[in-house]
Amino acid sequence: MARRAIVAANWKMNGDLALVDTMISELANVELQENVSVVVCPSSPYLSELASKVKSNNLSGIIHVGAQNVSEHQSGAYTGQVSAKMLQELSVEFAIVGHSERRCFYKETSTQVAHKVKAVLKSGLTPIICIGESEAERATDQTETVLAAQLQPVIDKIGIEQFVDVVIAYEPVWAIGTGKTASSEMAQETHKFIREFLAKANETVAAKVPLLYGGSVNASNCEELFAQTDIDGGLIGGASLQVEQFTKICSAAKGK
Ligand code: 13P
Repeated sequence: MARRAIVAANWKMNGDLALVDTMISELANVELQENVSVVVCPSSPYLSELASKVKSNNLSGIIHVGAQNVSEHQSGAYTGQVSAKMLQELSVEFAIVGHSERRCFYKETSTQVAHKVKAVLKSGLTPIICIGESEAERATDQTETVLAAQLQPVIDKIGIEQFVDVVIAYEPVWAIGTGKTASSEMAQETHKFIREFLAKANETVAAKVPLLYGGSVNASNCEELFAQTDIDGGLIGGASLQVEQFTKICSAAKGK
């Protein structure tokens, strides 16, 4: 079974044109291992520039452009929103959906996330669906219930068969930007639960879905995390703004 590894950079509301430029020049020199895709998700004003730099450096198919958010609507009176079709027109290939910061600060629900996933797939992009429990939820043994409740509406909306075109990022909320990484054993255990949960709906599909870990991943801990059976790469926040760290993380990933 060939399951590709993905290393995705989520710049959040950071970075600038200069970082787009240096990141692409440096990524052009990175030797990636077999079956690895790199996705860079800057803020939307930089998507176009990033896409054109990818093209001019002949990195299409190796470095992919991703958005950090997308509307669930196709078009219409939704001031400030960006549709999947608009992203597709800019050569954007991935869209992060349901990041915990959007769930927390902008009150995105799992039902809304499911609608967004459907819109993203309809435009031919790949959604990176973020799920994860809070510190209080883990402490009270609710992790699996929370993850299942975040995934089920998406399964119900698009059907399990469509998950062959989906990426899932497990990001425990307590590990995001805190320097507290889940131990590789804990991350593996949770990834295994996610894959088994999908397998209950369709085993063949579940085996194909890349499951990324996110939360304080850096150049020192990535190798051990990526070596776990059900961890297929990472969604990187803070460390993805530092070119040297990020390129090291990219070279540590390997398809399974
Ligand atoms: P950090 O890597 O900064 O913890 O952020 C993780 C994240 O939220 C990526 O989406």
